Amino acid sequence: MSLLTLKALGGGYSEVDIIHGIDLDVRAGEIVTIAGTNGAGKSTLVKALLGLLPRVHGDVILDGQSITALQAEDRFYAGLAYVPQVANVFQSLTVRENLLVVRGVKNITSRIDEVLQAFPALIEKLSQRAGNLSGGERQQLAFARALMPAPRLMILDEPTAALAPALVEKVFSLVADLPARGVAVLMVEQRARQALEISQRGYILDQGRCVLSGEASALLSDSRMTQLYLGTH
Ligand SMILES: Nc1ncnc2c1ncn2[C@@H]1O[C@H](COP(=O)(O)OP(=O)(O)OP(=O)(O)O)[C@@H](O)[C@H]1O
Ligand SMILES: [Mg+2]
Repeated sequence: MSLLTLKALGGGYSEVDIIHGIDLDVRAGEIVTIAGTNGAGKSTLVKALLGLLPRVHGDVILDGQSITALQAEDRFYAGLAYVPQVANVFQSLTVRENLLVVRGVKNITSRIDEVLQAFPALIEKLSQRAGNLSGGERQQLAFARALMPAPRLMILDEPTAALAPALVEKVFSLVADLPARGVAVLMVEQRARQALEISQRGYILDQGRCVLSGEASALLSDSRMTQLYLGTH
């Protein structure tokens, strides 16, 4: 059964719809990529499913239950974790404080130890301010924060966007490890080829509509993808 299902999801910031009739699903254990050009509506789709868009229609179903009527806060408690593209850590707090302020976590100090096993680089930086971390370290902290409540689904908006090329591989490998921890992933990525290489399936958006979807391997060899979204080289 699907973990997350979107049915005819549409909506926007004002009276004009930005996304239209999006059907999408993520199964347990999957990594699913959403790709598309700038302004295609990828971030808007993520905000719509998280309950962060002012006006939404259609249905969001988690584990067979509609969560469409829930506020964003309650979708978080239901198991959706979100790592936005920017402002995903508190710059003025230390690494440890960033982890301590995550809400809704039982036995928080032992959970911090557990989560940090996956991010050994952060253990040495626990008392450093997040604003002084490198881009890659900050992204690891954002992931660690999102993992604190043991979510079922991580929603990542362009996790590699602000990173130096050398760190991109590192972040993709962190993403690739999430299903083994029981966390499925729905990821928006500009680096569509690399993202699809670690994904089971993908959805391609254009002007707010899904124009192509399927198995990641099929998308990677689809000529329409190659020309439009993956670059031809
Ligand atoms: N807060 C907002 N208020 C009004 N319109 C917005 C807002 N955010 C985005 N839009 C509009 O919605 C459309 C889709 O934007 P969105 O951010 O979803 O695109 P995207 O696919 O995530 O692009 P990118 O790859 O550049 O991040 C754009 O035309 C944009 O101008
Ligand atoms: Mg975006």
